[in-house]
Amino acid sequence: MDQFAVVQLHRNKHFIKSCCAVINSEWPRSESARLHSLEASCDTLPTSLILTKKTEDIEQAVVVGHSKVTPIPSMPESCFVESVVIKHEHRRKGLGKFLMLKTEEFIKTLGIHTVYLSTLDKQEFYSKLGYIQCLPINIYGNFSKMHSSLTMNFPSRKVYMKKILL
Ligand SMILES: CC(C)(COP(=O)(O)OP(=O)(O)OC[C@H]1O[C@@H](n2cnc3c(N)ncnc32)[C@H](O)[C@@H]1OP(=O)(O)O)[C@@H](O)C(=O)NCCC(=O)NCCS
Repeated sequence: MDQFAVVQLHRNKHFIKSCCAVINSEWPRSESARLHSLEASCDTLPTSLILTKKTEDIEQAVVVGHSKVTPIPSMPESCFVESVVIKHEHRRKGLGKFLMLKTEEFIKTLGIHTVYLSTLDKQEFYSKLGYIQCLPINIYGNFSKMHSSLTMNFPSRKVYMKKILL
């Protein structure tokens, strides 16, 4: 993994357009809306992390992955990880795991030890990293009765998962 590094996007702003392209290749959205959301990245959350790969030109690197750590306002000791993506041609080589472990290392530097995420179909990937299924949380971080009644009326295939970082 020597040629790969995980860095904060807002400290490496020259990567913002290529980061946008990697995310949009998986979840298409207008470039301006995506850039606007990426520009919110900061030291104190939300923080976008990018996985970069060195190229032959030592000064150059390319973006091959992204994760975003978002605050949960009512649960300041917890955070939400979203938009985890590895560029298509780099998948199944251990890079998603590498990116998630580096993301968790970053989260711990903030004094946060509980991570939530949601997924439609990647439970197995996250299970292998130690995430376990949990009750849904809403944006404010409560195990919301409102959310439960909503999901009874409008069932979502989304699964929420959680990990306590040691
Ligand atoms: C999910 C994703 C980030 C995984 O990245 P990756 O680099 O392919 O994953 P890794 O190679 O690091 O895999 C780590 C482990 O998870 C397993 N794994 C990876 N993707 C998996 C999948 N889709 N289903 C089941 N297991 C999977 C691997 O086999 C590996 O297992 P091992 O440790 O026993 O060898 C990548 O497939 C991706 O970007 N997908 C599209 C975007 C997406 O769905 N993101 C998740 C949003 S919730």
